[in-house]
Amino acid sequence: MATKNTIILAAGKGTRMKSKLYKVLHRLCGKTMVDHVLSAVEGAHMDNIVTVVGFGADAVRDNLADRTQYVVQEKQLGTGHAVLQAEQLLGHLDGMTMVVSGDTPLLTTKTFENLFTYHQNKKAKVTILTSKAPDPTGYGRIVRNDLGIVEKIVEQKDATKEEQAIDEINTGVYVFDNRALFEALHKINNHNAQGEYYLTDVIEILKSEGQTIAAYKMADFDESMGVNDRIALARATKIMRCRINRRHMSAGISMIDPERTYIDADVKIGPDTIIEPGVQLKGNTVIGEDCYIGANSEIRDSIIHDHVRITSSLIEHSEMLDHSDIGPNSHLRPEAFIGKHVHLGNFVEIKKASIGEGTKIGHLTYVGNAKLGRNINVGCGVIFVNYDGAHKHETTVGDDSFIGSNSNLIAPLEVSDHSFIAAGSTINRQVNQYDMAIARSRQTNKPGYFKKLPYQKD
Ligand code: UD1
Ligand code: CA
Repeated sequence: MATKNTIILAAGKGTRMKSKLYKVLHRLCGKTMVDHVLSAVEGAHMDNIVTVVGFGADAVRDNLADRTQYVVQEKQLGTGHAVLQAEQLLGHLDGMTMVVSGDTPLLTTKTFENLFTYHQNKKAKVTILTSKAPDPTGYGRIVRNDLGIVEKIVEQKDATKEEQAIDEINTGVYVFDNRALFEALHKINNHNAQGEYYLTDVIEILKSEGQTIAAYKMADFDESMGVNDRIALARATKIMRCRINRRHMSAGISMIDPERTYIDADVKIGPDTIIEPGVQLKGNTVIGEDCYIGANSEIRDSIIHDHVRITSSLIEHSEMLDHSDIGPNSHLRPEAFIGKHVHLGNFVEIKKASIGEGTKIGHLTYVGNAKLGRNINVGCGVIFVNYDGAHKHETTVGDDSFIGSNSNLIAPLEVSDHSFIAAGSTINRQVNQYDMAIARSRQTNKPGYFKKLPYQKD
């Protein structure tokens, strides 16, 4: 049976990144480089995906989990040696094998599909994905003969002056006839400037055996960009961000300034949502339709339903239902669940709490470890006192209650529905239905005392 396979090369350390983190684990738009590559590969439907790991093997495994098989390259002796490590898993198969580097995060499923189709149409033993680089420095060059037929790939460090002038580069992606690949890999050596076993030498070997070599030249150089240092990482990030933002705008989302809108790769947004500058939408965030996300808001791994208004606020691992609103300058910490038509105003912090439909918390309030019912009014400066220095405790507040301004609700505490807490109260005992609770010292007036103050005039 003819199989379709991919080998992802991810064993290198990435010295040029100058980082403690292995190269392919650096992130752009919320996902590691190698995860971007794997996602694009998955889209092209493979029978087998094998990732070659070495430096940081465990961290790469943690990152990609069981979406791919793994082989370990103990010593980084070059890209050819890396591919050879996959022989035990793939060597016996008929079919096609694509090789791609873990450091080319902008390549798309579409390009991979085009490459496979081109390879099959050309009936080639290998098809190289090439592109025309504005500055080819550092890349392997595609050497063609007078008839335009590919002869070999020459690495930067091994290239003659004439070869260095070639601007068609090897993107590091190839589709091979699987058996021809592994047979040729046994014939490469490391007699070159870097003393490495180059995968690129397989081309010359197949050529000398009279096999058909094809090259599929892609139009968009940016997409083939290899990320070897932080400068390239920032450039690739910008290109990816631009791509993500265009996709959302084409789907009906408005961005006031797409250059300054930061949306991770897997975020979903509904149409007619408006996003202001400086907004960051991260991780697995989902935003509904007709929302307004105001300037400099940050939303991480949260679910925002339709018609929600968020003004300059930070939202983490939380959920906001339809027609709720928050901000400016409020903070939903993990596990805040905000019901429909809830109003959260400015300087409100909510943690591990659910807020029922129609409840209003307008100003300067902390709610932690609590369950609030519907249509409650929480005044200004209310504190849910949830921590005794050792443990967190729960507070529940029933529907239609009124919590006066500057109250402290000391947990564990139950405030029933339809109850009223007078402003300035510190409450630590249950409040029953229809009760008013007032817990503050009484006011005393001293007539004429003003005039006794030493610094006061008549
Ligand atoms: C490689 C190509 C070059 C091409 C460029 C495209 C070779 C010899 N050169 O060069 O023609 O233009 O990619 O970006 O193939 N790796 C391993 N094990 C190793 C060495 C590398 O797994 O022993 C992995 C790296 O982690 C990386 C990938 O292979 O993901 C490419 O290696 P890198 O050192 O970045 O190759 P380039 O010098 O960029
Ligand atoms: Ca590279």
